[in-house]
Amino acid sequence: MLGRLNHVAIAVKDAEKAAKIYGAAFGAEISKAVPLPEHGVTTVFVTLPNTKIEFIEPLGDTSPIAKFLDRNADGGIHHVCYEVADIVASRDILIGEGARVLGDGEPKIGAHGKPVLFLHPKDFSGALVEIEQA
Ligand code: CO
Repeated sequence: MLGRLNHVAIAVKDAEKAAKIYGAAFGAEISKAVPLPEHGVTTVFVTLPNTKIEFIEPLGDTSPIAKFLDRNADGGIHHVCYEVADIVASRDILIGEGARVLGDGEPKIGAHGKPVLFLHPKDFSGALVEIEQA
């Protein structure tokens, strides 16, 4: 069920500024900023040969990453995203194994136009997990 590591997300106050450092220092390919109002973040992706780094900054007054940035003023690793073949089937297996799905449990469209879900960090060794249908 567990597929490729799609991305590692780093929460920051300014995603474009953070990504530009990767562009300058590593010569990495940087995406345009994409606002995702439904998720309360703006994302900028850095493309690596085998995965991506997703910089996320708060969007709107009720961003789910606002508290994280209060605790981590310099930014920090926020979540890891794994690909799955069938997100609903994966969700149902995970729930059957006792994992908690965040929000209303229904997949939302993520930054790549594909359905995503978030899983409770307490069920995954303290790391917030996103799954994305590949
Ligand atoms: Co993500």
